[in-house]
Amino acid sequence: MQVFEANPKLWRPIPNGNNLYPKIINTDKLRKCLCKYDKECAMVYSRIGSPSMDAEVYSIIIDNQEYAAKVLPIVNDKSYDKIERELCFAKITSEAVRKGIVSHFLIYYGHYECNDTIYKEDSKFNIVSQKYALINSIISNMSKVEAKRKYYSLNRMSFEEIRDLYPNIQYDTSSKILFSQLLWGDLRTYLEEDRSEKEWNLIIDQILVCCKELEMLNIGHNDLHLGNILIKDIDTLESVIHDYGRSSNGYNKDDLEQAIDALTRINPPTKILNRLNMILQNY
Ligand SMILES: Nc1ncnc2c1ncn2[C@@H]1O[C@H](COP(=O)(O)OP(=O)(O)OP(=O)(O)O)[C@@H](O)[C@H]1O
Ligand SMILES: [Mg+2]
Repeated sequence: MQVFEANPKLWRPIPNGNNLYPKIINTDKLRKCLCKYDKECAMVYSRIGSPSMDAEVYSIIIDNQEYAAKVLPIVNDKSYDKIERELCFAKITSEAVRKGIVSHFLIYYGHYECNDTIYKEDSKFNIVSQKYALINSIISNMSKVEAKRKYYSLNRMSFEEIRDLYPNIQYDTSSKILFSQLLWGDLRTYLEEDRSEKEWNLIIDQILVCCKELEMLNIGHNDLHLGNILIKDIDTLESVIHDYGRSSNGYNKDDLEQAIDALTRINPPTKILNRLNMILQNY
């Protein structure tokens, strides 16, 4: 598969899949979006990961290979910028892993844009994304100043009110799908069960290496909670960082503090708590 720019020609036909617990996404539409060039190319298997306000992650199978597909809705200018940032850092870190410079980052393969809405009719994302797309279509031919003014006045109205005012405007919602390696799951889920001291120590070691590698690449993650650290291999507990929606250039010392602090809140054994406190005092 081509690095980062996913090539649709590589997706091969796969039988219809189960939609185990789709939430906001209409999985059939997601499947159609993934299969622009090939009718039956992918199987959207199930929704994974802890619930999130901003995105939904699905396990999908393409050509007998599993992937994680993160659906990122474009519902306002802020989400647009966030997605651009996420794509940019996903590309930088994935390339660094491929070059062998670092190893504690999730590998992303590429991204797709879905131009038709893929949200369920009754989901909140559907209505918000429709409103954003409609307003942008209305202001698309206006001067910058006029567009800005119009944007703010329309944004205060409901979707239905805007639709009534502009019944003939055509618009298209969009979202990005970001493909990555499908891994075991996140650290938050892993630590829901009681873990031995050895396991705790391995996890802490992994977090220290993750942060060292962020420092090497001079990246601030800026949102290093336990859901944003994934376990790659459940035997070795090898872990990777992902989700760069808030990342920025320049190492952020607070990343390590945030992750270590999150561990202290899970009630670790006393020896582990002492180690965590020592790290917090001395890093
Ligand atoms: N490649 C993957 N393999 C396994 N699980 C994954 C993968 N990508 C995401 N997940 C699961 O989905 C969850 C949400 O993914 P992600 O952090 O990318 O979304 P998000 O909406 O930006 O989250 P938040 O804003 O809460 O940090 C993760 O915490 C993890 O449990
Ligand atoms: Mg996250």
